[in-house]
Amino acid sequence: MTTRKIDTTLVSAGRSKRYTQGSVNSVIQRASSLVFDTVAEKKRATAGRAKGELFYGRRGTLTHFALQDAMTELEGGAGCVLYPCGAAAVANAILAFVEAGDHLLMSGAVYEPTQDFCTRILAKMNVSTSWFDHSIGSEIGALVQPNTRVVFLESPASITMEVQDIPAIVAAVRAIAPEAIIMLDNTWAAGILFDALAHGVDISIQAGTKYLIGHSDAMIGTAVANARCIDQLRENSYLMGQMVDADTAYMASRGLRTLGTRLRQHEESALQVAEWLAARPEVARVNHPALAQSKGHTFWQRDFNGSSGLFSFILQEKLSAPQLAEYLDHFHHFSMAYSWGGYESLILANQPEELAAIRPAGGVDFTGTLVRLHIGLEHVDDLIADLEAGFARLTR
Ligand SMILES: Cc1ncc(COP(=O)(O)O)c(C=O)c1O
Repeated sequence: MTTRKIDTTLVSAGRSKRYTQGSVNSVIQRASSLVFDTVAEKKRATAGRAKGELFYGRRGTLTHFALQDAMTELEGGAGCVLYPCGAAAVANAILAFVEAGDHLLMSGAVYEPTQDFCTRILAKMNVSTSWFDHSIGSEIGALVQPNTRVVFLESPASITMEVQDIPAIVAAVRAIAPEAIIMLDNTWAAGILFDALAHGVDISIQAGTKYLIGHSDAMIGTAVANARCIDQLRENSYLMGQMVDADTAYMASRGLRTLGTRLRQHEESALQVAEWLAARPEVARVNHPALAQSKGHTFWQRDFNGSSGLFSFILQEKLSAPQLAEYLDHFHHFSMAYSWGGYESLILANQPEELAAIRPAGGVDFTGTLVRLHIGLEHVDDLIADLEAGFARLTR
């Protein structure tokens, strides 16, 4: 157990001399073929191909190993598998552990494509999915079936941002099905605001596309697993051809070095915006885990080390389509995009019925339009002024 502070780990992790070869950062080793001078060398590479020996490009190069070592150290796992994007990490982590006839338990408030993977792909393989209310806690035990193989969590929830009682869920599942694999989409916490493996999760998954990359210019997925899961995860993902190019792996490693600093600014500004919104008459509720009015706030307070830049708020009113367009089309600093985690601010809106349609365990408890914000690194005063002008457009 290291006593080093996380900022120090972010700077030093994955920077052994083997990877940096005299420079500060890891080398970018682009390779498909990795050549051996002798039969003995080839033999050694084959024996150690899953354990960091240079073997063949699809198993990774020094650039990939540097990032994998860094992520493993950061999240306290036994190893890390890289994927071309977050969705690939989710799909392949699940696929690595299920077979026909198995059952999966999934929160009904996870990222929509994660749900779709279950209903469209796993269902074809005769793997069934049951959905549970995101706030279920220890009552999840009642849903575990003899064939439940995977329990999939995401905290905070996608878009509506409820934080889960992960320790209670883990304890209840372990008591009934100790062999079940518990996975968490840990993207919001960027792998550092919530220590998933220390809380009993087996596999911590991230869309590194968001905060690791941090600049909205590349995509990557990561899955850090504990000792009981890593070999199966790694081998299955290898057989599914999961590979990311060396340049992208390098960019993720580079992103790590500033991750702590960026997150602190995202956190500070997002909190300021969230508190400003909470005092606005147009706003019914702010879904920011660090605010007491947000669902699961006490779990966030107990289990997390901080908050990031993504949250949502619910307007008192449901906006009509023209009102929504007038509201969204004229921001200066908030672009509309299906992403987040970069240095730039983003905005998206969902009507309550749209959200209810992607909540298979139950609808939503609000009637106003929901707005999701990602608070970037612009000056917070400019962001608040922009949001204020948005409210003014609503009353015109
Ligand atoms: C919580 C969460 N998980 C997974 C993903 C998928 O990541 P990617 O777009 O890199 O496939 C996203 C993307 O928005 C996400 O928000």
